[in-house]
Formats: sequence, structure tokens, C-alpha cells
Amino acid sequence: MKVAIVVGSIRKQSYNMKLAEYLKLRYADQITFEIVGIRDLPHYNQDVELDPPAVVKDFKERIAAADAVLWITPEYNYSIPGVLKNALDWLSRVDKVMNGKPSWIMGASMGQLGTVRAQEHLRDILFSVGITSPLLPNNEVYIGAVHEKMDETGKLIHEPTIGFIDIVVNNFINWMNSRK
Ligand code: FNR
Repeated sequence: MKVAIVVGSIRKQSYNMKLAEYLKLRYADQITFEIVGIRDLPHYNQDVELDPPAVVKDFKERIAAADAVLWITPEYNYSIPGVLKNALDWLSRVDKVMNGKPSWIMGASMGQLGTVRAQEHLRDILFSVGITSPLLPNNEVYIGAVHEKMDETGKLIHEPTIGFIDIVVNNFINWMNSRK
């Protein structure tokens, strides 16, 4: 099973990116994760959506080639970061590559709520007309105080969180298999 990961933070030391890299290694025998970058995407512009820059075409192709997308996002000002919304806006148009493609969500923040509000907004966006992505029900992963749950190399070391993610990954695989 091939799952694209889109991370909503483009900063170098992003906890959410570290989480993505951790998942890629830990579950490599069950899921082929590909982290698909959004750093170089230009602002969405309807004037060029029919023939967008190559970086946008490549981004859409990589998402289209995946069996599902895992969104891993921080919360910015009670919502998702603009870079992630921008990526979703590109995906929502013309060939609508997310249409019918399953999604699941995780998020990490240094605060206690662990991106609850951002994920609420992201769920709404995933249900929008241009995206219409079936979402893994329940299994909500909110990682608060993430800076206390990773070691200095960015590896997740908080056993209760690791155990919970193990369960969620298993639930995701079962959900995907039940959809075949
Ligand atoms: C934040 N942060 C934040 N945290 C939160 O829990 N709720 C929020 O609304 C916000 N808002 C916010 C806005 C902006 C512009 C920044 C830069 C930060 C803190 C945020 O959770 C923290 O910086 C994370 O470490 C960002 O994730 P990455 O980059 O480490 O993946």
C-alpha cells in the first residue's frame, strides 16, 4: 500500500515533518510512505490552473499515484497553515486528484490541544466539492506537547503515543482493506 504524506509545515526543524519521517521508518514493512513536499508550490492561481507550473504538475501526479494521503499538520492561528491550504486548493481543481482518494490525519503541536482546531478545519476542507476525500473515521491523532515526546534527533520516544499510533496504523490498514 502506497501512502503519500503531506506535511503542513515547511520549516527545517518541523516536529510534524519529524513525525512523518518516524512513521516512514517504523511502518515500512506495512506501508510504503512517500513524503510529498509542498515547499516549492507557488500560490494557487486560477489563471494558470489548466497548465500550471511543472512543480504543481509533479505534486498532483505524486498525489494521484498514491492509494491514500496522510495529512500531518501543525495548527496556525486555530487553523491549518496557509501552505497546506494552498496545496489543497491546487489539488481541488481541474483533474481533482483527491476525489475519492482516502485520507487520514495526524497533527503535533507544542501546546496541549495537539492541533484539534486545525484538524477540524482540515476535515471540512477534505469534504469540500473539489476534494471529496473519504476520511478514516475516528482514530484522531492529536499529539500535544510534542517537544517533550521526541528526543534530540526528532525520534518519537513517548511510549503511550507510539502505542496509540500503532493501533491507528493498524485501523487504517484494515479500513483500506475493507474498501477494496
Ligand atoms: C503557531 N502555533 C500554534 N499552536 C497551537 O497549538 N495553536 C495555534 O493556533 C498556533 N498558532 C501558531 C501560529 C503560527 C504562525 C506559528 C508559527 C505557530 C505553535 C505551533 O504549534 C508550533 O510552532 C509547532 O511547532 C509548529 O509545527 P512544526 O513546524 O514544528 O511542525
